[in-house]
Amino acid sequence: MNQISDTQFQADWLSLREAADHAARDAALLVRAAQCVPPGMRVLDLGSGTGSTARAFARAGHDRVQWCFLDTDEAHLQLAKARHPMAECVMGSVTDVEALPLEHVGLVTASALLDLMSTAWVDALAARLGQAGVPFYAALSFDGRMRWEPPVAADADVSDAFNRHQRGDKGGQAAMGPDAAQLTANGFEAHGFAVTLAGSDWVLGPDDAALQDEFVAGVARAAEEAGEVQAASWAGVRRKAAGHSALRVGHTDLLAVPAGHEATAG
Ligand SMILES: C[S@@+](CC[C@H](N)C(=O)[O-])C[C@H]1O[C@@H](n2cnc3c(N)ncnc32)[C@H](O)[C@@H]1O
Repeated sequence: MNQISDTQFQADWLSLREAADHAARDAALLVRAAQCVPPGMRVLDLGSGTGSTARAFARAGHDRVQWCFLDTDEAHLQLAKARHPMAECVMGSVTDVEALPLEHVGLVTASALLDLMSTAWVDALAARLGQAGVPFYAALSFDGRMRWEPPVAADADVSDAFNRHQRGDKGGQAAMGPDAAQLTANGFEAHGFAVTLAGSDWVLGPDDAALQDEFVAGVARAAEEAGEVQAASWAGVRRKAAGHSALRVGHTDLLAVPAGHEATAG
């Protein structure tokens, strides 16, 4: 999920969550996505951040992929370039769907991005990728579930407030928030794509106390903005308990393949 605006803070957050993200991605869907890329074609990663999707592909053995990273955040792109010198980095907004650089692109990817976007954007993206015959792989869309063990009284109220906040206006249009994966699946199916969804929940334990702690802080900030008066006291209780709590955060991965497309790579 996307909860932090300050660039450095967000880069730290992306770094903190990367191990959990990589462990959570559905392994079979990632392999299917990688196999969609014909030899000699490249992968365009929307909202790339520092290049976590490229590293997830490399961890799975797909380390010869030519990447094009696209993001609005110059600092994220600089970090991505430092870690992936062969990648092309493009400063730009994913919202300008017609301007997305699809030349020699065999797969478009995204991760932890869809919840920010609108159904109108999905419709435009599916139309463009359908015309171009390019598959879309979007990992780690938050689906609204967060479950702590042991629970505390305000968990449900704070979680509900957070999810209201996630559905709020982001850049002039209602964000899909926790419904992002399902709404994206519906949008791509309407354009003739075959869509597969797979669970990619974070499963965190006491060893992930730092990530749990930061997650709780972000949830509380958003819940407070959404009017939840218990948010700050809840965060105090939760952050104290992070060293002996388990936390599951629901995520979904999606692969949308246009009609007639065949997997071509190994
Ligand atoms: C939560 S981060 C995820 C980054 C990366 N995909 C990952 O999984 O680590 C969301 C990223 O999307 C970028 N972003 C947000 N809105 C964008 C837009 N309209 N166009 C391009 N990038 C955008 C942010 O700058 C940020 O790098």
